[in-house]
Amino acid sequence: MSFVGESLTSASQLVFVLQSPHSAGDFLFPIISISQPLLYTCFDENVWSKVLLAIVNNRDHRRMEALSELTGEGYREEIIAGNLGDHILAEYKVSQENLGDTCTDDFWDQVQRGNTPIFDIFCALARDLPLAYCAIKAIKSPSKYSIASVAVLQQSSTALRNSFNSILNNVATFQRHVNILKELYSVFDRKIEFCDGDISYPGEESRPTGRGMGLELQNVTFSYPGSKTKTALNNVSLSIKPGQLVVIVGANGSGKSTMVKLMTRLYEPSSGTLLIDNVAAERYRSSSLRRAMATLTQDHKIYPLSIYENISLITADDPALVTKAAKQGGALKFIERLTDGMDTILEPRSRTFNVNIPSDPAHPLQKQIDSLPKKIDISGGEKQRLVAARIFMRFNMEEVNFVAVDEPSSALDAEGESQLFNQLIAERSGKTMVFVTHRFGHLTQHADMIVCMKDGALVECGSHKDLLKLDGEYAKLYNIQAGAFAVNEFSE
Ligand SMILES: Nc1ncnc2c1ncn2[C@@H]1O[C@H](COP(=O)(O)OP(=O)(O)OP(=O)(O)O)[C@@H](O)[C@H]1O
Ligand SMILES: [Mg+2]
Repeated sequence: MSFVGESLTSASQLVFVLQSPHSAGDFLFPIISISQPLLYTCFDENVWSKVLLAIVNNRDHRRMEALSELTGEGYREEIIAGNLGDHILAEYKVSQENLGDTCTDDFWDQVQRGNTPIFDIFCALARDLPLAYCAIKAIKSPSKYSIASVAVLQQSSTALRNSFNSILNNVATFQRHVNILKELYSVFDRKIEFCDGDISYPGEESRPTGRGMGLELQNVTFSYPGSKTKTALNNVSLSIKPGQLVVIVGANGSGKSTMVKLMTRLYEPSSGTLLIDNVAAERYRSSSLRRAMATLTQDHKIYPLSIYENISLITADDPALVTKAAKQGGALKFIERLTDGMDTILEPRSRTFNVNIPSDPAHPLQKQIDSLPKKIDISGGEKQRLVAARIFMRFNMEEVNFVAVDEPSSALDAEGESQLFNQLIAERSGKTMVFVTHRFGHLTQHADMIVCMKDGALVECGSHKDLLKLDGEYAKLYNIQAGAFAVNEFSE
């Protein structure tokens, strides 16, 4: 509104100056009037024309940046599955309040004031140019000008200059605000496909707490929103009893992860029903259901926060519990080796802004950049251990009835993998557990049920022995791995 107002004011002032009896038809006068803002816009030595290094060292500001990033598309599944939305908002508010008014415009004012004295003199002259112009014209034809008319012209030229100045300063802000508004209103065009239920889990209609969750897929078909023609799951029916250990196997792209995503309600089936403890899943309030579920997925994400918060999921502040979870996930040893230990931020956000700094390594600002703390790299296996610690944190904090583990061990060494599985099995105590794995051996032989997937369909289901006897898809996959071991032994 202010931008439009400013533009109208400028336009009317321009018309006024052009139509004034003393300057009618004189186009030079309005141009002279706006020469100062034009000079500033074209030649001002602003901050972006300098060599500049800005370092964000405010802890709360950095934290706000990191928390904002967590709300982005990349972390969507983790944030929904972990019920973290409210915690992120609350933490953001705390940091925002801590930050208060510490950021002022003074800093930018200071860096922006860097023009040469000659430029400043030019601008000062440009400011008084309209008056000088009027004076010269008055001397040339004194009958046309009175002192009063020169004063009126001077005033209108000042008003024109000021409003023009503010338009030029606000063009970029105006464009940015229009884009923000567009984005804001585009939210209304989005369709909300997820309907939340109104009964809490575990509720009166479902079983009492303390035992695992029972899940049943009835003729479930599912296509991802982006690929309506291709079905990721095709008419799958499966019943998992409370407390069972279920292992899902199958080739890449056969629908294993999709099945886990439907069970944890990250997606709704396109058709068919998911029953949780004999009640249609959509009747539960999703936040209460997710409190009873824990997931460990194959595409682990490290949050841009400290290791401590990566494990505590931003929700708890209990160092003893966090250390215990780190130990259970097999991450404690490598965390202790880091200089800042639990306070290490592996992927810090928004630390520096560098403008026009030459790439020459000898440049003093390049040296300063080099001396800043860098992103700390840990190995893929160490990342997986860190993410695994989160799931143990959930076990330690609240009652979890259903655990879904989707191929978390691809980067783990043999010892790490067996430790992780042993820890998970040790924590099982009646929880229903679903494991997705490509590695036969550790789990498949102990599973209550093995589900074998192929091209989005459930092709076989039963115990390890039953499925080997059946000599179908499972036996084929199993024998390929067993065969590889036999060849290795032979060659040794
Ligand atoms: N977000 C998505 N959007 C569209 N299609 C997807 C998406 N995720 C998976 N798919 C497709 O759905 C099918 C099943 O994928 P899914 O991830 O369930 O396989 P998977 O059995 O877990 O495979 P892997 O062993 O590689 O983990 C695949 O054809 C895949 O290309
Ligand atoms: Mg998968």
